[in-house]
Amino acid sequence: MALERVSQNGLVLLGCGKMGSALLAGWLAAGIPAASVWVLEPNPSDWLRGIGVHLNQGLPSSPAVALLAVKPQMMGAALPALQALGNGATLFISIAAGTAIATFEAVLGARTPIVRAMPNTPAMVGRGITGLCANASASAADMDLATTLMQSVGQVVALEGEHQMDAVTAVSGSGPAYVFYMIEALAQAGVSQGLSGDVAMQLARATVCGAGELAFQSPDPAAQLRINVTSPGGTTAAALAYLMDEGNGLSPLMARAVAAAAARGKELSQ
Ligand SMILES: NC(=O)c1ccc[n+]([C@@H]2O[C@H](COP(=O)([O-])OP(=O)(O)OC[C@H]3O[C@@H](n4cnc5c(N)ncnc54)[C@H](OP(=O)(O)O)[C@@H]3O)[C@@H](O)[C@H]2O)c1
Repeated sequence: MALERVSQNGLVLLGCGKMGSALLAGWLAAGIPAASVWVLEPNPSDWLRGIGVHLNQGLPSSPAVALLAVKPQMMGAALPALQALGNGATLFISIAAGTAIATFEAVLGARTPIVRAMPNTPAMVGRGITGLCANASASAADMDLATTLMQSVGQVVALEGEHQMDAVTAVSGSGPAYVFYMIEALAQAGVSQGLSGDVAMQLARATVCGAGELAFQSPDPAAQLRINVTSPGGTTAAALAYLMDEGNGLSPLMARAVAAAAARGKELSQ
C-alpha cells in the first residue's frame, strides 16, 4: 500500500552516493519502478546511469517522497532545489547525520511532513538498522511510508522523539566502526600469540561475522549466547574475566565511547 503511493506519485532522491545508492537498490528490489524515481546527483555512478531512473531531469510536481541523502555540509546548498515541494503533500525523509528537523522546517516550511532517519552502512548489504522520528506535520501514514522505505535495507526502530537521535547515531550509526575496530584488535592480539598477520585477520574477521550471524539468527539474547560458549574455568572464561571487569572492562569503555559519540553528535547539530 505505502509503496503504491511512491510508484504512482514518484520519489525524488537528492544525492546518490553510498547511502543513496544502497537505498535506491533496495527500493528497486522491493518493486518500485525505476520510472517512478527522480535522482539529483552531480556525479552519477555507472550503475546509476544504467538503471533507468530520471537522472538530473526536472522533478515531478508533487512526489510522494523526497529523500535527502547528501552530506550534512552540502545540505544548505542542495536543499533549495526542493524548496518548492515544501509545505505540501511530499514527505521529506532526511538521512543526514546531525541535521535537526528544525533546520529543514526553516527552509521547507513548518507544514512540511518531515521524517529524520539514521541508518547505518550495513544497509549496503541489506542488513542495516535505521532509527526514525518525525515532526508534528507528519501523519501516521507518512511514518508508515518512511518505515517501509527504510525496511528495504534492513530493520527499523521508531524513536520516542528527536532527542534520542544522538544516542542512535552513537550506538548503531557509528557502531559498525566499533565492530571493525574490534576485528583489528582481535587480529592484533592473535599476532601477539604467535599467529601470522593474515591468519590472525582471517580468524578475527570470520569470528566477528559468524558471531554476528549467529546473534542475528538466534532467538536467544546475546548474554545467553555468551553463556553458551563459556565453560566455568575454561579459556573463554579466562578472557571474559578481563572483558567483563566492572572498572576496566569493555562495558565501561563502551559507555565512554558511546557517550563521546553522542556528545559529538550534539555539538555537530548546534
Ligand atoms: N555512510 C554512513 O555510514 C551514514 C550513516 C547514516 C547516515 N548517513 C548520511 O547519509 C548521507 C549521505 O552519506 P553518504 O555516505 O552516502 O555520502 P556520499 O557517498 O558522499 O553521497 C552524497 C552524494 O551527494 C552528492 N551531492 C553533493 N551535492 C549535491 C547536490 N547539491 N545535489 C545533489 N547531490 C549532491 C554527492 O556528490 P559529490 O560526490 O559530487 O559531492 C554524493 O554523491 C549523509 O548526510 C550522511 O550523514 C551516512
